[in-house]
Amino acid sequence: MIYQFPKDFIWGTAASALQTEGNNTNSDWWRWENNKAPEDKYPLESSGIACVSYHRYEEDLDLCVKLNSNAYRTSVAWGRIQPTPDTFDVKEIEHYRNFLKAAKLRNLKTFITLHHFSNPIWFADMGGWANPKAPVLFEIYAKKCAQVFGDLVDVYLTINEPQVYMNQCYISGAWPPNRENLFLALRVQQNLIKAHKRAYRAIKSVGPHTVGLVKNIIWFEQQPSTYSPVDWLAAKLLFFSNCDQYLRQIGKDLDLIGVNYYFTTRLRGLMLHNLDDVQSDLGWWVYPKGLEHILLHLRKYNLPIYITENGVADCTDRIRKDFIRDMLISCNKAMEQGADVRGYFYWSLIDNYEWHRGYDPKFGLVYVDRKNELARIPRESFYYYAGICKSGRIEK
Ligand code: BGC
Repeated sequence: MIYQFPKDFIWGTAASALQTEGNNTNSDWWRWENNKAPEDKYPLESSGIACVSYHRYEEDLDLCVKLNSNAYRTSVAWGRIQPTPDTFDVKEIEHYRNFLKAAKLRNLKTFITLHHFSNPIWFADMGGWANPKAPVLFEIYAKKCAQVFGDLVDVYLTINEPQVYMNQCYISGAWPPNRENLFLALRVQQNLIKAHKRAYRAIKSVGPHTVGLVKNIIWFEQQPSTYSPVDWLAAKLLFFSNCDQYLRQIGKDLDLIGVNYYFTTRLRGLMLHNLDDVQSDLGWWVYPKGLEHILLHLRKYNLPIYITENGVADCTDRIRKDFIRDMLISCNKAMEQGADVRGYFYWSLIDNYEWHRGYDPKFGLVYVDRKNELARIPRESFYYYAGICKSGRIEK
Protein backbone atom coordinates (compact mmCIF):
# COMPACT_ATOMS: atom_id res chain seq x y z
CA MET A 1 0.00 0.00 0.00
CA ILE A 2 1.24 3.50 -0.82
CA TYR A 3 0.52 6.53 1.34
CA GLN A 4 1.09 9.80 -0.48
CA PHE A 5 1.54 13.19 1.22
CA PRO A 6 0.80 16.57 -0.37
CA LYS A 7 3.60 18.29 -2.32
CA ASP A 8 3.79 21.23 0.09
CA PHE A 9 3.88 19.05 3.21
CA ILE A 10 6.33 20.24 5.87
CA TRP A 11 8.94 17.62 6.72
CA GLY A 12 11.05 18.54 9.71
CA THR A 13 12.76 17.71 12.95
CA ALA A 14 12.53 19.45 16.31
CA ALA A 15 14.83 20.45 19.16
CA SER A 16 15.12 23.14 21.83
CA ALA A 17 17.72 25.62 23.06
CA LEU A 18 18.63 24.27 26.49
CA GLN A 19 18.70 20.70 25.25
CA THR A 20 21.21 21.40 22.47
CA GLU A 21 22.96 24.79 22.70
CA GLY A 22 25.14 24.32 25.78
CA ASN A 23 26.02 26.76 28.55
CA ASN A 24 22.59 28.26 29.00
CA THR A 25 23.80 29.85 32.20
CA ASN A 26 21.08 32.46 32.55
CA SER A 27 18.32 29.97 33.16
CA ASP A 28 16.59 28.52 36.17
CA TRP A 29 17.47 25.07 34.85
CA TRP A 30 21.18 25.82 34.79
CA ARG A 31 21.08 27.19 38.32
CA TRP A 32 19.19 24.16 39.56
CA GLU A 33 21.46 21.69 37.75
CA ASN A 34 24.56 23.24 39.18
CA ASN A 35 23.80 24.34 42.75
CA LYS A 36 23.15 21.04 44.36
CA ALA A 37 21.82 21.24 47.88
CA PRO A 38 21.90 17.74 49.40
CA GLU A 39 18.24 17.58 50.44
CA ASP A 40 16.79 18.41 47.03
CA LYS A 41 15.89 16.39 43.94
CA TYR A 42 18.20 16.95 40.99
CA PRO A 43 18.54 15.79 37.41
CA LEU A 44 20.79 12.82 36.73
CA GLU A 45 23.34 15.12 35.16
CA SER A 46 23.57 18.74 34.13
CA SER A 47 23.14 20.01 30.59
CA GLY A 48 26.67 21.46 30.52
CA ILE A 49 27.87 21.96 26.97
CA ALA A 50 24.90 19.98 25.62
CA CYS A 51 25.59 19.46 21.89
CA VAL A 52 27.38 22.81 21.49
CA SER A 53 24.73 23.64 18.92
CA TYR A 54 25.07 27.30 19.90
CA HIS A 55 28.34 27.21 17.93
CA ARG A 56 27.75 24.21 15.72
CA TYR A 57 24.33 25.18 14.38
CA GLU A 58 25.52 25.19 10.78
CA GLU A 59 26.48 21.55 11.12
CA ASP A 60 23.00 20.80 12.50
CA LEU A 61 21.32 22.71 9.68
CA ASP A 62 23.46 20.84 7.14
CA LEU A 63 22.08 17.65 8.62
CA CYS A 64 18.55 18.97 8.00
CA VAL A 65 19.52 19.45 4.36
CA LYS A 66 21.06 16.01 4.14
CA LEU A 67 17.79 14.70 5.55
CA ASN A 68 15.89 16.32 2.64
CA SER A 69 13.74 18.07 5.23
CA ASN A 70 12.30 21.49 4.50
CA ALA A 71 11.85 22.82 8.04
CA TYR A 72 13.50 22.92 11.45
CA ARG A 73 11.89 23.62 14.78
CA THR A 74 13.90 24.81 17.75
CA SER A 75 13.63 27.43 20.48
CA VAL A 76 15.41 30.64 21.36
CA ALA A 77 16.59 31.08 24.94
CA TRP A 78 14.73 33.87 26.73
CA GLY A 79 17.59 34.33 29.21
CA ARG A 80 20.05 35.02 26.39
CA ILE A 81 17.79 37.50 24.60
CA GLN A 82 16.65 39.32 27.73
CA PRO A 83 19.36 38.93 30.37
CA THR A 84 17.66 41.35 32.79
CA PRO A 85 14.08 42.65 32.95
CA ASP A 86 15.16 45.94 31.40
CA THR A 87 17.69 44.91 28.79
CA PHE A 88 17.88 42.99 25.56
CA ASP A 89 21.19 41.60 24.43
CA VAL A 90 22.05 42.86 20.97
CA LYS A 91 24.78 40.29 20.41
CA GLU A 92 22.57 37.37 21.32
CA ILE A 93 19.82 38.70 19.07
CA GLU A 94 22.38 38.93 16.27
CA HIS A 95 23.42 35.37 17.00
CA TYR A 96 19.88 34.09 16.56
CA ARG A 97 19.38 36.23 13.45
CA ASN A 98 22.49 34.59 11.98
CA PHE A 99 21.13 31.19 12.88
CA LEU A 100 17.81 31.99 11.20
CA LYS A 101 19.55 33.36 8.11
CA ALA A 102 21.65 30.21 7.92
CA ALA A 103 18.43 28.19 7.96
CA LYS A 104 16.89 30.36 5.22
CA LEU A 105 20.02 30.00 3.08
CA ARG A 106 19.38 26.28 3.20
CA ASN A 107 15.72 26.73 2.23
CA LEU A 108 14.50 25.58 5.61
CA LYS A 109 11.31 26.95 7.09
CA THR A 110 11.84 28.06 10.67
CA PHE A 111 9.41 27.11 13.43
CA ILE A 112 10.61 28.92 16.53
CA THR A 113 9.42 28.27 20.06
CA LEU A 114 9.74 31.21 22.44
CA HIS A 115 9.41 29.25 25.68
CA HIS A 116 10.60 25.67 25.95
CA PHE A 117 10.59 24.80 29.67
CA SER A 118 13.40 27.08 30.95
CA ASN A 119 13.20 30.66 32.24
CA PRO A 120 15.68 33.49 32.79
CA ILE A 121 16.97 33.58 36.36
CA TRP A 122 15.50 37.06 36.96
CA PHE A 123 12.07 35.81 35.88
CA ALA A 124 12.31 32.79 38.19
CA ASP A 125 13.37 35.09 41.04
CA MET A 126 10.30 37.27 40.49
CA GLY A 127 8.12 34.24 41.19
CA GLY A 128 8.28 32.60 37.79
CA TRP A 129 4.98 31.55 36.24
CA ALA A 130 3.13 31.92 39.53
CA ASN A 131 3.73 35.68 39.45
CA PRO A 132 0.58 37.52 38.29
CA LYS A 133 2.86 39.70 36.15
CA ALA A 134 4.26 36.69 34.25
CA PRO A 135 1.92 37.00 31.22
CA VAL A 136 2.87 40.66 30.73
CA LEU A 137 6.59 39.91 31.11
CA PHE A 138 6.30 37.16 28.53
CA GLU A 139 4.38 39.45 26.21
CA ILE A 140 7.21 42.02 26.28
CA TYR A 141 9.74 39.33 25.35
CA ALA A 142 7.52 37.84 22.64
CA LYS A 143 6.93 41.24 21.05
CA LYS A 144 10.64 41.93 21.01
CA CYS A 145 11.28 38.60 19.30
CA ALA A 146 8.76 39.45 16.58
CA GLN A 147 10.38 42.86 16.11
CA VAL A 148 13.94 41.60 15.82
CA PHE A 149 13.35 38.31 14.02
CA GLY A 150 10.39 39.34 11.85
CA ASP A 151 10.02 37.20 8.75
CA LEU A 152 13.16 35.21 9.44
CA VAL A 153 10.75 33.14 11.52
CA ASP A 154 8.04 31.39 9.50
CA VAL A 155 6.01 30.21 12.44
CA TYR A 156 6.13 31.57 15.98
CA LEU A 157 5.27 28.98 18.61
CA THR A 158 4.67 30.73 21.91
CA ILE A 159 4.91 28.05 24.60
CA ASN A 160 5.94 24.42 24.48
CA GLU A 161 3.70 21.98 26.34
CA PRO A 162 2.31 24.30 29.02
CA GLN A 163 0.60 21.43 30.82
CA VAL A 164 3.75 19.33 31.01
CA TYR A 165 5.58 22.36 32.35
CA MET A 166 2.92 22.86 35.02
CA ASN A 167 2.91 19.18 36.00
CA GLN A 168 6.66 18.77 36.20
CA CYS A 169 7.36 22.06 37.96
CA TYR A 170 4.35 22.51 40.26
CA ILE A 171 2.74 19.08 40.79
CA SER A 172 5.41 16.37 40.68
CA GLY A 173 8.09 18.89 41.59
CA ALA A 174 10.64 17.14 39.35
CA TRP A 175 11.72 20.36 37.62
CA PRO A 176 12.55 23.80 38.98
CA PRO A 177 11.09 25.46 41.01
CA ASN A 178 10.32 21.96 42.39
CA ARG A 179 6.99 22.79 43.94
CA GLU A 180 4.23 20.30 44.78
CA ASN A 181 1.27 22.56 45.17
CA LEU A 182 -1.98 22.13 43.30
CA PHE A 183 -3.14 25.64 44.05
CA LEU A 184 0.02 27.14 42.56
CA ALA A 185 -0.20 24.74 39.64
CA LEU A 186 -3.67 25.98 38.71
CA ARG A 187 -2.49 29.56 38.91
CA VAL A 188 0.49 28.72 36.69
CA GLN A 189 -1.79 27.04 34.18
CA GLN A 190 -3.96 30.16 33.95
CA ASN A 191 -0.90 32.39 33.61
CA LEU A 192 0.51 30.26 30.81
CA ILE A 193 -2.77 30.51 28.91
CA LYS A 194 -2.93 34.27 29.47
CA ALA A 195 0.70 34.58 28.40
CA HIS A 196 0.01 32.75 25.16
CA LYS A 197 -2.94 35.00 24.38
CA ARG A 198 -1.00 38.16 25.10
CA ALA A 199 2.00 36.97 23.10
CA TYR A 200 -0.25 35.97 20.21
CA ARG A 201 -1.74 39.46 20.00
CA ALA A 202 1.63 41.19 20.52
CA ILE A 203 3.30 39.22 17.71
CA LYS A 204 0.35 39.93 15.43
CA SER A 205 0.60 43.65 16.24
CA VAL A 206 4.15 43.63 14.84
CA GLY A 207 3.30 41.99 11.51
CA PRO A 208 1.15 39.37 9.79
CA HIS A 209 2.93 36.46 11.42
CA THR A 210 1.68 32.94 11.91
CA VAL A 211 1.44 32.09 15.61
CA GLY A 212 0.64 28.84 17.34
CA LEU A 213 0.94 26.96 20.61
CA VAL A 214 2.52 23.55 21.13
CA LYS A 215 0.32 21.19 23.10
CA ASN A 216 1.25 17.73 24.26
CA ILE A 217 -1.77 15.57 23.64
CA ILE A 218 -2.15 12.14 25.14
CA TRP A 219 -4.77 9.81 23.76
CA PHE A 220 -6.80 8.18 26.55
CA GLU A 221 -8.95 5.13 25.92
CA GLN A 222 -10.47 2.23 27.76
CA GLN A 223 -9.04 -1.24 27.28
CA PRO A 224 -11.16 -2.30 24.28
CA SER A 225 -11.89 -5.95 25.08
CA THR A 226 -13.39 -5.38 28.53
CA TYR A 227 -16.06 -2.72 28.21
CA SER A 228 -16.59 -0.74 31.36
CA PRO A 229 -18.60 2.49 31.44
CA VAL A 230 -16.40 3.74 34.30
CA ASP A 231 -13.21 3.35 32.26
CA TRP A 232 -14.93 4.84 29.24
CA LEU A 233 -15.99 7.90 31.22
CA ALA A 234 -12.62 8.28 32.92
CA ALA A 235 -10.84 8.17 29.55
CA LYS A 236 -13.19 10.80 28.13
CA LEU A 237 -12.67 13.09 31.12
CA LEU A 238 -8.90 12.71 31.09
CA PHE A 239 -8.75 13.42 27.37
CA PHE A 240 -11.00 16.43 27.81
CA SER A 241 -8.81 17.89 30.54
CA ASN A 242 -5.67 17.27 28.48
CA CYS A 243 -7.00 18.57 25.19
CA ASP A 244 -10.29 20.45 24.83
CA GLN A 245 -10.46 22.22 28.16
CA TYR A 246 -7.09 23.72 27.26
CA LEU A 247 -7.70 24.59 23.64
CA ARG A 248 -11.12 26.05 24.41
CA GLN A 249 -9.58 28.54 26.79
CA ILE A 250 -7.18 29.69 24.09
CA GLY A 251 -10.17 30.50 21.93
CA LYS A 252 -9.47 32.40 18.74
CA ASP A 253 -5.91 33.36 19.58
CA LEU A 254 -4.42 30.56 17.55
CA ASP A 255 -3.47 30.22 13.87
CA LEU A 256 -2.52 26.57 14.12
CA ILE A 257 -2.39 23.72 16.60
CA GLY A 258 1.01 22.19 17.33
CA VAL A 259 0.56 18.62 18.55
CA ASN A 260 3.25 16.74 20.43
CA TYR A 261 2.30 13.08 20.52
CA TYR A 262 4.31 10.54 22.47
CA PHE A 263 1.87 8.13 24.03
CA THR A 264 -1.55 6.74 24.77
CA THR A 265 -2.92 5.82 28.15
CA ARG A 266 -5.21 2.82 28.18
CA LEU A 267 -7.37 2.22 31.23
CA ARG A 268 -8.72 -0.95 32.77
CA GLY A 269 -10.37 -0.86 36.19
CA LEU A 270 -9.20 2.76 36.37
CA MET A 271 -5.60 1.57 36.23
CA LEU A 272 -3.01 2.05 33.51
CA HIS A 273 -3.25 -0.92 31.19
CA ASN A 274 -0.93 -0.29 28.26
CA LEU A 275 0.41 -3.09 26.11
CA ASP A 276 4.07 -4.04 26.09
CA ASP A 277 4.24 -5.19 22.46
CA VAL A 278 6.36 -2.24 21.31
CA GLN A 279 8.03 -0.03 23.88
CA SER A 280 10.64 2.70 23.82
CA ASP A 281 13.75 2.62 26.00
CA LEU A 282 11.76 4.71 28.49
CA GLY A 283 8.99 2.09 28.61
CA TRP A 284 6.57 4.28 26.65
CA TRP A 285 4.10 2.18 24.68
CA VAL A 286 4.27 2.86 20.93
CA TYR A 287 0.70 3.21 19.67
CA PRO A 288 0.38 5.02 16.32
CA LYS A 289 -3.39 4.65 16.25
CA GLY A 290 -3.55 7.10 19.18
CA LEU A 291 -2.19 9.82 16.90
CA GLU A 292 -4.90 9.14 14.32
CA HIS A 293 -7.60 9.43 17.00
CA ILE A 294 -6.19 12.75 18.20
CA LEU A 295 -5.94 14.22 14.70
CA LEU A 296 -9.49 13.20 13.87
CA HIS A 297 -10.69 14.73 17.11
CA LEU A 298 -8.95 18.04 16.35
CA ARG A 299 -10.83 18.48 13.04
CA LYS A 300 -13.58 20.36 14.88
CA TYR A 301 -11.22 23.30 15.56
CA ASN A 302 -10.90 24.04 11.83
CA LEU A 303 -7.26 24.99 12.22
CA PRO A 304 -4.14 23.75 10.45
CA ILE A 305 -2.39 21.10 12.50
CA TYR A 306 1.33 20.47 12.70
CA ILE A 307 2.77 17.51 14.52
CA THR A 308 5.43 19.59 16.23
CA GLU A 309 6.97 16.60 18.04
CA ASN A 310 6.77 12.86 17.72
CA GLY A 311 9.70 10.66 18.57
CA VAL A 312 11.05 7.64 20.35
CA ALA A 313 13.91 6.94 22.76
CA ASP A 314 15.66 4.05 21.07
CA CYS A 315 19.42 3.83 21.59
CA THR A 316 19.95 0.88 19.25
CA ASP A 317 17.68 2.29 16.53
CA ARG A 318 15.77 -1.01 16.52
CA ILE A 319 12.23 0.39 16.36
CA ARG A 320 12.68 3.97 15.10
CA LYS A 321 12.09 3.28 11.40
CA ASP A 322 8.84 1.41 12.01
CA PHE A 323 7.85 4.04 14.55
CA ILE A 324 8.19 6.83 11.98
CA ARG A 325 6.51 4.81 9.25
CA ASP A 326 3.51 3.81 11.36
CA MET A 327 3.03 7.25 12.92
CA LEU A 328 3.06 8.82 9.47
CA ILE A 329 0.60 6.24 8.16
CA SER A 330 -1.74 7.16 11.02
CA CYS A 331 -1.27 10.77 10.12
CA ASN A 332 -2.00 10.06 6.46
CA LYS A 333 -5.14 8.10 7.34
CA ALA A 334 -6.39 11.00 9.45
CA MET A 335 -5.70 13.38 6.56
CA GLU A 336 -7.74 11.15 4.26
CA GLN A 337 -10.60 11.61 6.72
CA GLY A 338 -10.34 15.38 6.72
CA ALA A 339 -7.72 16.27 9.32
CA ASP A 340 -5.87 19.35 8.08
CA VAL A 341 -2.34 18.19 8.92
CA ARG A 342 0.30 20.38 7.27
CA GLY A 343 3.54 19.03 8.63
CA TYR A 344 5.45 16.54 10.78
CA PHE A 345 8.51 17.15 12.97
CA TYR A 346 10.39 14.15 14.28
CA TRP A 347 11.83 14.65 17.79
CA SER A 348 14.74 14.97 17.56
CA LEU A 349 17.35 15.68 14.91
CA ILE A 350 20.26 14.83 17.23
CA ASP A 351 20.53 13.09 20.60
CA ASN A 352 20.27 15.76 23.28
CA TYR A 353 19.71 16.62 26.93
CA GLU A 354 16.56 14.84 28.07
CA TRP A 355 15.87 17.12 31.05
CA HIS A 356 15.95 15.36 34.46
CA ARG A 357 16.90 12.09 32.73
CA GLY A 358 20.19 13.53 31.50
CA TYR A 359 21.86 12.28 28.31
CA ASP A 360 20.83 8.64 28.58
CA PRO A 361 17.66 8.57 26.46
CA LYS A 362 18.46 8.71 22.74
CA PHE A 363 15.75 10.33 20.67
CA GLY A 364 18.01 11.40 17.80
CA LEU A 365 17.98 10.44 14.16
CA VAL A 366 21.62 11.33 14.61
CA TYR A 367 23.82 9.78 17.27
CA VAL A 368 25.99 12.30 19.11
CA ASP A 369 29.23 10.76 20.29
CA ARG A 370 29.81 12.39 23.66
CA LYS A 371 33.22 10.73 23.96
CA ASN A 372 34.41 11.97 20.59
CA GLU A 373 33.94 15.72 20.39
CA LEU A 374 30.19 15.39 19.97
CA ALA A 375 30.59 13.99 16.47
CA ARG A 376 27.22 13.73 14.72
CA ILE A 377 26.71 10.29 13.21
CA PRO A 378 23.43 9.64 11.39
CA ARG A 379 21.66 6.43 12.37
CA GLU A 380 19.99 4.14 9.81
CA SER A 381 16.62 5.66 10.63
CA PHE A 382 18.00 9.03 9.50
CA TYR A 383 18.35 7.65 5.97
CA TYR A 384 14.94 6.04 6.18
CA TYR A 385 13.26 9.33 7.13
CA ALA A 386 15.38 11.13 4.51
CA GLY A 387 13.78 8.89 1.87
CA ILE A 388 10.30 9.83 3.06
CA CYS A 389 11.13 13.55 3.16
CA LYS A 390 12.38 13.31 -0.41
CA SER A 391 9.59 11.26 -1.96
CA GLY A 392 6.70 12.42 0.23
CA ARG A 393 5.39 8.87 0.32
CA ILE A 394 5.44 5.74 2.41
CA GLU A 395 5.11 2.15 1.36
CA LYS A 396 3.92 -0.62 3.62
C1 BGC B 1 9.50 17.95 25.12
C2 BGC B 1 10.95 17.73 24.76
C3 BGC B 1 11.40 16.37 25.25
C4 BGC B 1 10.54 15.31 24.60
C5 BGC B 1 10.90 13.87 24.93
C6 BGC B 1 8.62 16.74 24.98
O1 BGC B 1 7.78 16.67 26.08
O2 BGC B 1 8.99 19.07 24.44
O3 BGC B 1 11.71 18.78 25.29
O4 BGC B 1 12.75 16.14 25.01
O5 BGC B 1 9.21 15.49 24.99
O6 BGC B 1 10.66 13.60 26.28
